[in-house]
Amino acid sequence: GRVAVLMGGTSSEREVSLDSGSNCLEALKRQGVDAYKVDGIAALVDELVNKRCQRVFNILHGHAGGGEDGILQGLLDAFGIPYTGSDVLGSALSMDKIRTKQVWLSLGLPTPRYARLSRNSDVATAARDLGLPVIVKPACEGSSVGVTRVFKEADLKQAVDLAARYQGEMLMEQLVVGDELTVAVLGDTALPSIRIVPAGEYYDYHAKYKAEDTQYICPGLQGAAEDEIRALALEAFRTAGCSGWGRVDVMRDRASGKFYLLEVNTAPGMTSHSLVPKSAKQFGIEFDELVWRVLETSVP
Ligand code: DAL
Ligand code: MG
Repeated sequence: GRVAVLMGGTSSEREVSLDSGSNCLEALKRQGVDAYKVDGIAALVDELVNKRCQRVFNILHGHAGGGEDGILQGLLDAFGIPYTGSDVLGSALSMDKIRTKQVWLSLGLPTPRYARLSRNSDVATAARDLGLPVIVKPACEGSSVGVTRVFKEADLKQAVDLAARYQGEMLMEQLVVGDELTVAVLGDTALPSIRIVPAGEYYDYHAKYKAEDTQYICPGLQGAAEDEIRALALEAFRTAGCSGWGRVDVMRDRASGKFYLLEVNTAPGMTSHSLVPKSAKQFGIEFDELVWRVLETSVP
């Protein structure tokens, strides 16, 4: 049947999703799949009602508009249409960084200490309890949108004001000083980790999608440490209820070498700058095959 490649939407990551989506659409077409572009959930509803697609390749990123957060997945379940990636539970949980951390902590998996914030929170006390530096984030955004690292108390308010512009809750997390790593998961396999070395200080939105001087080292670690991060990522992915494919972001403390889980992305970027394609390539899976394998995750 026809495959709707669902991209774009209305979240803060719309542009990233259009880029990821067109790459995936072209890859599917090159492999003879009868695939076409659908921009956003409202347009998809029309396709579903009129039975114009039989499968959905979901590459919507983010929360507002409901692509990566379980809303779309519930809609497709109701229509009985197979889709790529995680189901309602895994998508909804993973979109919420606070509740994902609560699940991991309850199972003894490592994640940075944090405080949940609202607009009325006493942020200075929260920061003192955690100890500076901290990182302030909207609980349900992606691509580092609304994220600020805070090194001194005087900068807290601005960070919280920025995060508060986005829907939902906010969190303040202890900033892990060390290496930024990520592990792609494809089916039951954790692919080689990637260590990200931004040219500037941080792997922010610019370093993610615009900069040509961000370095990606893959595999990111060697020997036992590489085995350990892959096993941890796979466990983190499963315990968050995720399946099919995704990407687990991890920090490694420079002093102790300990890993700390940050979050799971259930519809990770597939742009030319993105991480999952780089890791797959290192593993011997070229882009077209990767997209094919992701499509296969929709087979019940
Ligand atoms: N949220 C972006 C798309 C990612 O995780 O790759
Ligand atoms: Mg994310």
